[in-house]
Amino acid sequence: MKKLLLMALIAGGLFASSGQEVFDAKCAMCHKVVDMKERQQMMKKLPLQARQAMMKKFMATMKAPPINKVSARIKHFHPKKADFVAFVKDYITHPDAKKSLCMPMALKKFGVMPPVGVSLSEADKNAVASWLYDNFHGKWKEMKACASGGKCGSGKCGGISKKPAMKCGAGKCGAK
Ligand code: HEC
Repeated sequence: MKKLLLMALIAGGLFASSGQEVFDAKCAMCHKVVDMKERQQMMKKLPLQARQAMMKKFMATMKAPPINKVSARIKHFHPKKADFVAFVKDYITHPDAKKSLCMPMALKKFGVMPPVGVSLSEADKNAVASWLYDNFHGKWKEMKACASGGKCGSGKCGGISKKPAMKCGAGKCGAK
C-alpha cells in the first residue's frame, strides 16, 4: 500500500513537471501566460494614448490566445478534469474550427492552430493537458468581462477603449 502511494506521488510529481516542459517546448512560443489583473493595474496608471499603443503592440506580437485564458475557457465548458484532458488532447492533435471553444474573434484573428499534438507521445499529451488544467485557476466569467472591453468600455480592465465594446450585450462576447 505504502509502495503504491509512493509510486503515485512520484508519478504525480513527474507528470506535473513534464507537463510544464512539454508546454515550454511545444506551446509557449505561441501561447503566453497573460495576467489580466496585473495588466489592468499597470495600464490604469498610464494615459489613454500610452494604453492604446501598448495594447496595439501586445495584439501585434500575440500569436495565440493567452494560455491561462484558454484553460479557463475550456474549464467553463468541461469542468471535469477527464473531459478537459480529453478535449485538449484531441484538439491539439486534430484542431478544427468546428470543435473550437475559443471565441470566434480569436479564430478570426489567429486562424486554427497547427496540429502540434501529432509529434507528441500519448504521455506528453496527457502531461501537458493535465498541467493546463491544474496550473491555472482563473475563472472564465471574470476574464470574459475583460475580453469584451471591460464592463462595456466603462473603463474597467484598463479601459482601453472609451467606446462601448461593439458587440457587448449581443451575446457575442465569448458566447456563453
Ligand atoms: C503555432 C502556434 C501554436 C502552437 C505552437 C500551439 N498553439 Fe494552441 N492555439 C493556437 C491558436 C492560434 C489557437 C486559437 C485558434 C484555435 O482554437 O485553433 C490555439 C488554441 C488552443 C486551444 C483552444 C482550443 C479551442 O477550443 O479552440 C488549446 C487547448 C491549445 N491551443 C493548446 C495548445 C497546446 C497544449 C499546445 C502545445 C502542445 C499548443 N496549443 C501549441 C496556436 C498555437
